[in-house]
Amino acid sequence: MAAFRLCALLCWLSLTAVAQPHSGSEKPSDTLDKEFHRQRREVLRQQLPPRSVAVLFASPVRNRANDVDYYYHPDPDFYYLTGYTEPNAVLLLFGSPQNLNGKQVHELLFVQPNDPMHELWNGKRLGVEGASKELGIVTLPNTDFAGFKLDTANLQQILIKSLPHDVRDDAADEADLYSLLGQFKTKVKYPINFSATRSMLYGITREHGLAQAEGVALYIRQAMLQEPDLKNDQALQGYLQAKDMRARTQAVAAIPEQKLDAYTLDQMLDQLREVKTEEEVRLLRKAASMSAIGQIEVMKAMKPGMSEMEIQGIHEFVFKKYGAQHVGYPSIVGAGNNGCVLHYTASNKPAIPGSELVLMDVGAEYLGYTADVTRTIPANGKFTKEQKAIYELVLKAQEAGFQQCKVGNAFNAPHQAAETVIADGLVKLGIIKKREEVQRYFPHGTSHYLGLDVHDRGSFGPFQANTVITVEPGIYIPEGSPCDKKWWGIGVRIEDDILIAEKGWENLSKQAPRTVEEIEKTMAQPSALDVFKLPKLD
Ligand code: GLY
Ligand code: MN
Ligand code: MN
Repeated sequence: MAAFRLCALLCWLSLTAVAQPHSGSEKPSDTLDKEFHRQRREVLRQQLPPRSVAVLFASPVRNRANDVDYYYHPDPDFYYLTGYTEPNAVLLLFGSPQNLNGKQVHELLFVQPNDPMHELWNGKRLGVEGASKELGIVTLPNTDFAGFKLDTANLQQILIKSLPHDVRDDAADEADLYSLLGQFKTKVKYPINFSATRSMLYGITREHGLAQAEGVALYIRQAMLQEPDLKNDQALQGYLQAKDMRARTQAVAAIPEQKLDAYTLDQMLDQLREVKTEEEVRLLRKAASMSAIGQIEVMKAMKPGMSEMEIQGIHEFVFKKYGAQHVGYPSIVGAGNNGCVLHYTASNKPAIPGSELVLMDVGAEYLGYTADVTRTIPANGKFTKEQKAIYELVLKAQEAGFQQCKVGNAFNAPHQAAETVIADGLVKLGIIKKREEVQRYFPHGTSHYLGLDVHDRGSFGPFQANTVITVEPGIYIPEGSPCDKKWWGIGVRIEDDILIAEKGWENLSKQAPRTVEEIEKTMAQPSALDVFKLPKLD
């Protein structure tokens, strides 16, 4: 029995070993350095109101099943501001310097201390001294957070993001994220009924409630459907009921000021992360290149009868070969009708028929920055007449979208251009009768920001220089659609990662063949995988 227990304990420990991050010292040479993160904090801190603090928490560790966790992925904002990649950490940035043991500090990072037993199983931790040296921040052990005096009486604003939820309590760890959140709530007397959504609505109403009354009212009504308690909020109801400008001005003035603010920090991070530095563009360029090369390798290797999972594996192998740590989002590889499911991630078609198109939306994540590249190819290497007609329409829409990627243009300019092309084209092909029906077959937007998140932060204002967005029109005609059967099962998306710069736009994923001719030519080439044979399984 004792032996059994010991074995069970060892098994448990070895399984949890895969779950934790490793902060080993062998980093790729293009890892963002501490100066990058210091500058990002500095720019954010310059915007903080006096006598305010911004408080950010690391992401929770998520459980997969039983005693196995998911690979840990740092919160992108936390990584952006610190470079720290481990869990159970808190960052404080002060609008006015604070006294810490007789020293004036602007920022404080609480991290996991070193722990030889933990590190034996799970890999090295940066520790307090390591974090202070490698990240260049005043650092304390997270076990000190409970006793740290946050001078809330003298703080006028406490800026937070919506606090992480669904956080596991490791009862043996007094400084796990669960405990750190509890300690923070005690310090700031976090109201039991605090709603981050309410805080955000107050912020939006105060900022845009007069100039964009219709949009703000719609936003509030939608939020009330998601969080029905907000219907009892007098300030928001007062705003919704205001009939004229005078009443609206009064209602906006009556929105309560909240010391605990879950709006402002998000706005600042949106602005900050939207515009990329040179180092960030370098990483995005690399992530986009490896993703594009993955597309080329799959085009060469693709044969009818291959499975969706196998195709996914080739893309992801290429990413890993180039040193990508993760995929930026679950890979989407859908053949035929599966290509018409926008975020199809099952990859469970065992043998793709030669007659089908294969839509592959995949992105390598390199040092935190993700690409997002889609190509759609015919499984047998040759587009049919119908496949080609739809493909070339999407391609034309994408070209129209590219032309709108200019500094100063509205965020939705690429979408408007792409949608116009697709609406006209679908009418011409007889797939829809009226242009207004276009959303049936093109039901998503054309662009999103790209960076540490695949759907990255941004302000959605006019394009600024050094912004990276996707341009990704698509047409999806699932089986059973109200059009000629010959179009059924055709799903096409073409997606590239576009750097908008002062001197013009640049396609960071341009290495991936895009035209019908280029794709068919690439697919006719031999692949190293043609000779890769594995033994049959019983
Ligand atoms: N891969 C998700 C997207 O294209 O937005
Ligand atoms: Mn995308
Ligand atoms: Mn995509």
